[in-house]
Amino acid sequence: TKKLAVFASGTGSNFIAIQEAIEQGTLDATIALVVSDVPTSAVIEKAKKKGLKTFVFNPQSYSDKEAFETEIVEALSEAKVDWVILAGYMRLVGPTLLSAYEGKIVNIHPSLLPSFKGLDAIGQAFDAGVKITGVTIHFVDEGMDTGRIIAQEAVTVKNSSTRVALQKDIQAVEHRLYPETINYLLQQ
Ligand code: GAR
Repeated sequence: TKKLAVFASGTGSNFIAIQEAIEQGTLDATIALVVSDVPTSAVIEKAKKKGLKTFVFNPQSYSDKEAFETEIVEALSEAKVDWVILAGYMRLVGPTLLSAYEGKIVNIHPSLLPSFKGLDAIGQAFDAGVKITGVTIHFVDEGMDTGRIIAQEAVTVKNSSTRVALQKDIQAVEHRLYPETINYLLQQ
């Protein structure tokens, strides 16, 4: 059974979906560490409720990315983490973490990449008026939302759809597709 670290900056609904898949036995893994760059984030509260180990840091208390990623890598190695799962971690991964976990870092992005990279991909798609958007799960490299694609699923934007409704539809797909894809990856 492989050990995951889940990285998140906000709500943590994808973290919860992954943890529930583990509890239900559809994902053979354990979450050894939950990492957040936002000390007040809801995801940390949720992780503690689940009794999971957390590593929380404030990037502003470090001189640079290398400094906090060095501590992250130490925490990951102490927890014997095999895979790094980014789930709403709103920060570019730097060379320190990338080289320590080469080929073992994955991310979920709420669009069909390479469309709508970066922040607020759902809002970007909504504003562009596209009729199909979706969810992408990909390996992480030094770029922003540029790594090799592992899985994608389309989501239709209904004519009556609001931004909030579209977000709900996309997140429902994320919560199913992410645990499923992680399980597939771990079995390779
Ligand atoms: C998810 O929709 C995820 O795809 C997105 O942040 C949200 C986090 O929600 N990630 C990105 O935009 C990365 N560029 P959650 O905290 O409820 O899981």
